[in-house]
Amino acid sequence: MSKKQSSRVILLSGTPGVGKTTISDLLRLKEYSVINLNDFIIQHGLYFGYDYSRESVIIDENVLKIKIEKELEQFPGLLFIEGHTSEIVPMEFVKFALILRCNPSILRERLSLSRDYSHNKIEENVQAEIMDECLIAMQEQLPSSLILEIDTSDLIPENIVEQIISHISKT
Ligand SMILES: Nc1ncnc2c1ncn2[C@@H]1O[C@H](COP(=O)(O)OP(=O)(O)O)[C@@H](O)[C@H]1O
Ligand SMILES: [Mg+2]
Repeated sequence: MSKKQSSRVILLSGTPGVGKTTISDLLRLKEYSVINLNDFIIQHGLYFGYDYSRESVIIDENVLKIKIEKELEQFPGLLFIEGHTSEIVPMEFVKFALILRCNPSILRERLSLSRDYSHNKIEENVQAEIMDECLIAMQEQLPSSLILEIDTSDLIPENIVEQIISHISKT
């Protein structure tokens, strides 16, 4: 398979609360295929515990990587993968990565309103956003030319989706 044919995955990443799932839902309405990495982990039973201190499932990254690769082999066409994907998806499949960003105080508000996270978990996520954690993790895997950051703070989800679709047409 040529590089162009194989690089058809668009990674959709960002700190919890930036709007990944909102955007994924809109993309699905527009008939794009989107895999949510967390749902994929649960559907395929790829977790083996729950870390209460971090409030997240415990996974075997190697098993997840193999399963995702198999899925990609079977899956034709453009595919969005939502989640903390930087180290999971083989980079030869990646067309580009989107990192949704959000102003920290707006992110704090979004998380407080939409999640029953503890105060600590909210602040952990706000700090992660301030420290560019998702961006840095992605930059360790992909050249900056393949990473597009979108500041969602003052954009309605529909406009973000328009930006994404416009970027696809340019790549
Ligand atoms: N562009 C946006 N503007 C305002 N609120 C948003 C936007 N995107 C998402 N939200 C709200 O923020 C919260 C978190 O969004 P969500 O899509 O669940 O984020 P993520 O999947 O990245 O954790 C939800 O209540 C959602 O309605
Ligand atoms: Mg989500």
